[in-house]
Amino acid sequence: MQTDVTRLIQSHRSIRKYIDKPIPEEVLEDVLACAQWAPSSHNVQAYSIIVVRSAEKKKQLAQLCGGQKWVETCPVFLVFCADFYRLKLTCDMRGTELLADEVENMLVAAVDTALAAENALVAARSHGLGGVMIGGIRNQPEDVARLLQLPELTAPIMGMCLGYPDQDVEQKPRLPQRAVIHEEEYRTEHLPAALEEYEAISAEYYSRRTKGELTEGWTRQMADYLKKPRRQHLGDFLRQQGFPLK
Ligand SMILES: Cc1cc2nc3c(=O)[nH]c(=O)nc-3n(C[C@H](O)[C@H](O)[C@H](O)COP(=O)(O)O)c2cc1C
Repeated sequence: MQTDVTRLIQSHRSIRKYIDKPIPEEVLEDVLACAQWAPSSHNVQAYSIIVVRSAEKKKQLAQLCGGQKWVETCPVFLVFCADFYRLKLTCDMRGTELLADEVENMLVAAVDTALAAENALVAARSHGLGGVMIGGIRNQPEDVARLLQLPELTAPIMGMCLGYPDQDVEQKPRLPQRAVIHEEEYRTEHLPAALEEYEAISAEYYSRRTKGELTEGWTRQMADYLKKPRRQHLGDFLRQQGFPLK
């Protein structure tokens, strides 16, 4: 059984091409209000959102995200940042010290940030917009922090391109539900077969979408992706921003 909202969620596709039409202010306001209505761990609301409309800034960010041109061509680019700066200020104002555990802090901030981002994307889609999240914002976080003047205890977690879609792409198939959802307890016996099934489904999809250029399915792509180290600079960057990671 579906509702309008579940149909919208289940028709998700990342959109990376946009028509040349600005996003009305009242639409963006509504999208940002939805971001803020996401639930938050202990209501700490440990994130901030930077709205980037400046063509020059989007151009620079596109480069910093690894040359992703949709960061430049989207009318609005949002940068979702983990934010403990505002919480430290709050503690300072009230004469206490911010002493929460570091791993917990990072998890809380990352989860809060992601929940706000997904709310924003769903809200944007309900207005007819399309978008894509951008983890590339963590490629060169020091330069991003400098460009956006991020204070200590903040860090870019993900970006989001938003605009009116200029492409109609096929939905990317997800894992079979039995590989993800467990009843009462985690069971492993059926996983290899479910993964093989997904390999076949996703290989067909990628082959179709790339006109035969990419023939490997999800399991082969993941095996290749995960054997390489990724963004190893992040620990140093977070320490530099004042996050007390060991
Ligand atoms: C946190 C996050 C970071 C992402 N980073 C990028 C990115 O840097 N560039 C990009 O083109 N897509 C990015 N994506 C989009 C994913 O590639 C996409 O969601 C995934 O392949 C599934 O495809 P779909 O969204 O079309 O269903 C990101 C998605 C998430 C959730």
